[in-house]
Amino acid sequence: MTTAITLVQGDITRQRVDAIVNAANSSLLGGSGVDGAIHRRGGPAILRECRALRASRYGRGLPTGRAVATTAGELDARWVIHTVGPVWSADEDRSELLASCHRESLRIADELGARTVAFPAISTGVYRWPLQDAARIAVTAVRESGTRVEEVRFVLFDERAYAAFAARLG
Ligand code: APR
Repeated sequence: MTTAITLVQGDITRQRVDAIVNAANSSLLGGSGVDGAIHRRGGPAILRECRALRASRYGRGLPTGRAVATTAGELDARWVIHTVGPVWSADEDRSELLASCHRESLRIADELGARTVAFPAISTGVYRWPLQDAARIAVTAVRESGTRVEEVRFVLFDERAYAAFAARLG
């Protein structure tokens, strides 16, 4: 079964999918951008589970490139899969960590039995990763993942991000 990769320009918190991937930070305690939007619209149940994860398995925070699932709270999804993208660096190639965010999120989606998964353009906001390069890494990682997810939907917030991803799928 092949995975359909689709693109949508819009707000990831309004997607009706099984799992929504959050561009989190290692604290798992919220932030701005996608992270802020997911916690705002998803409500306190998400943060409660994130706090429980910090109190148990992730005492020192979720490492970059790893992913963990919580409830989706009030969102139109069953789960939020939180992943921590790498901050872009001119001196160090962190591409493998960005690829890992996608592979690990899909591995967890498969464990959960999620069939549709929405991804934001991880690391391309506060973490300053150039859009074209992030799109290349993200699409390649999904294509090579071997996931059983039926639809991976990249939800891009603006025209520029949409165009960057569309250029990779063409
Ligand atoms: N829906 C879809 N995409 C969005 C939304 C939204 N509601 N809000 C922002 N984006 C886009 C941004 O335009 C950017 O292209 O998501 C991409 C990722 O941007 P960020 O959310 O800033 O995530 P990232 O660059 O991975 O930085 C993560 O930011 O919010 C904090 O706590 C978070 O410290 C972490 C850091």
